[in-house]
Amino acid sequence: MGRIKDIRPLKWTGEALLLLDQRKLPLKEEWVECKDYECVARAIEQMVVRGAPAIGVVAAYGVVLGAKEMAEKTKGYLDFKAKVELIINRLAATRPTAVNLFWALKRMRRIVEAGTDIEEIVVALETEAINIERQDVETNRKIGYYGAELLSSREVILTHCNTGALATAGYGTALGVVRAAVEMGKDITVFVDETRPYLQGARLTAWELQQEGIPYYLITDNMAGWFMSLGEITCIIVGADRIARNGDTANKIGTYTLSVLAKEHGIPFYIAAPTSTFDLSIKSGADIPIEERSEDEVLYCHCKNCRIAPYGAKVKNPAFDVTPHENITGIITEKGVINAPNEEKVLEFFSQ
Ligand code: MRU
Repeated sequence: MGRIKDIRPLKWTGEALLLLDQRKLPLKEEWVECKDYECVARAIEQMVVRGAPAIGVVAAYGVVLGAKEMAEKTKGYLDFKAKVELIINRLAATRPTAVNLFWALKRMRRIVEAGTDIEEIVVALETEAINIERQDVETNRKIGYYGAELLSSREVILTHCNTGALATAGYGTALGVVRAAVEMGKDITVFVDETRPYLQGARLTAWELQQEGIPYYLITDNMAGWFMSLGEITCIIVGADRIARNGDTANKIGTYTLSVLAKEHGIPFYIAAPTSTFDLSIKSGADIPIEERSEDEVLYCHCKNCRIAPYGAKVKNPAFDVTPHENITGIITEKGVINAPNEEKVLEFFSQ
């Protein structure tokens, strides 16, 4: 159909990393310019950029900016390597759950460890970051293709959080499946969970779908079960932040609830994620670290100028939950689909 837009959340200029400020969307399209690694680290912490694959790509560019700075400040390559290692550790400490961050930093660390010449290491790091970005878009297009193949010619897809171009280097994972299905000419309507408390659905997914002209309904999270019971949802597709080797999947808080509702109503429940989101060192979802975010996200409305709850209210705000593999119909990756995932199937998939 050729009407899919090329939304990108980041731009590398060679000297700086430009980030579309996702805190301001959908009302303002502003870019933050990062010229050093600390700016990149803060951008991840403060949600200028978010989404598992996107923070991996951005952190890789953070290493490039840091390495360029250290190349000017240090003499011997051993000193340079030690300083870049500290930068990698700083970037790794920004958010704990999405494993793509650590995956991308591991790729960057390998380049540093293999080199002996500072200038050559800096060039190789920049090439690697550009590759990570480019490969992410290619990967998402493949996920989109495999996912769209699973869908019939007419689907009403419920999605949660934002898994689109904004959450990746471009195109998206679960929302990439929606894009691919539309590109294939399928008749797709999307139900977008607003995704309390940070409202990635209402602010970001709705914005992306609007840009694309893909029909959608924005609903509050507590409406999802009701629409399932009415038979209005034919399929659920969400993203992932970390997948354990038994298929248990950490994703945005509220995903687990959707998976239970999907099971109750016999609706297919898919995870769409690149293979870089798998953490095979982790046996089950119980071992996935869950980020706890500021209570202000729950106590105040998103624009921060109105308090919702009484002063003194105690808050819990886990940013992610874990969906047990038994609730997952299939995990859609760039290498194909793992149906009814469990440890045996995941390990077999990765051994191919
Ligand atoms: O807290 P966020 O906005 O970074 O959480 C994002 C999600 O949970 C996404 O579903 C996940 O990272 C997959 S994005 C392709």
